[in-house]
Amino acid sequence: MNMRKSPAIVVVLGTGGTIAGVSQVPGDNVHYQAAQLSVQQLVDAVPALAGHALESEQVVQVDSKDMDFAIWLALARRIELHLAREDVAGVVVTHGTDTLEETAYFMQRVLAPPKKPVVFTAAMRPATALLRDGPQNLLDAVKVARVVGACGVLAVLAGSVHSALDVRKVHSYRLDAFSSGEAGPLGRVEEGRLRKFREWPQGVAIGLARLPHDPVPWPVVEVITGHAGSSGALVQAALASGVHGLIVAGPGNGSVHHALDAALRVAQARGVLVWRSTRCLDGPVFDEPDVPFPSAGTLTPVQARIEMMLLLMAPPN
Ligand code: SIN
Repeated sequence: MNMRKSPAIVVVLGTGGTIAGVSQVPGDNVHYQAAQLSVQQLVDAVPALAGHALESEQVVQVDSKDMDFAIWLALARRIELHLAREDVAGVVVTHGTDTLEETAYFMQRVLAPPKKPVVFTAAMRPATALLRDGPQNLLDAVKVARVVGACGVLAVLAGSVHSALDVRKVHSYRLDAFSSGEAGPLGRVEEGRLRKFREWPQGVAIGLARLPHDPVPWPVVEVITGHAGSSGALVQAALASGVHGLIVAGPGNGSVHHALDAALRVAQARGVLVWRSTRCLDGPVFDEPDVPFPSAGTLTPVQARIEMMLLLMAPPN
């Protein structure tokens, strides 16, 4: 696979995360402050990037647990602007691992870049770790951003290339913490070369212009997990707070405890959208004839939440 586009710049957008994290105790991989180093410092820490045409830009500096809609909008605008430049081959986004899959999914659905890639990357260990994963991940992400013909939103972590439509964090600690589930990775980066298994992510972009602009609040969609002994208490609280939509992450085929079901029917009757997804790691949820809550298909609960928010903000014509 040809990894070179020339002449072409890769723009690296920084948003924070553990990749930019620093611990007071060198070698401590757990107790550290995320989002401390600038994206330029991350680039400078990779000698192998010295010969690459790169630009870096700090969009925000956050621990990705604090990611929000205003940041998504700001990031999407910067990505769109740089992708439109003729001298840019692709964009890399450094991000925290915790909510990377949400930001990447959102960007794919809103921008679906058809000609150039947007490559998310991150690290499980801070920049002060004895054996840190950030520099290699960043180098691999830049290499993928320069692949001829690459497009869509991708995530490059621990040598694997994932589609934003499939990627999810599946481990809280391991270096190789991401999976594409049953779809499998899109490819692997091996010594700077891409070995590609399947097609780039496809899809029609919803488009930034169709989304409300800040300070308009985005729809409120909450995820409620179903479990043994579920009650309707969280649904009632959500209703009282003015929620617009609910995603149930139920067991198995998104099945719903009878007490939760009763509360959800009340919410639905009051105009709240309710979809069923599964708390299983893989597999679809099917519609049930007697259950009035549509299935979210193969979407994970957090993907379903984004999809519902987009539907509420930009209903199909
Ligand atoms: C974060 O998501 O910002 C912190 C955790 C990580 O990047 O691994």
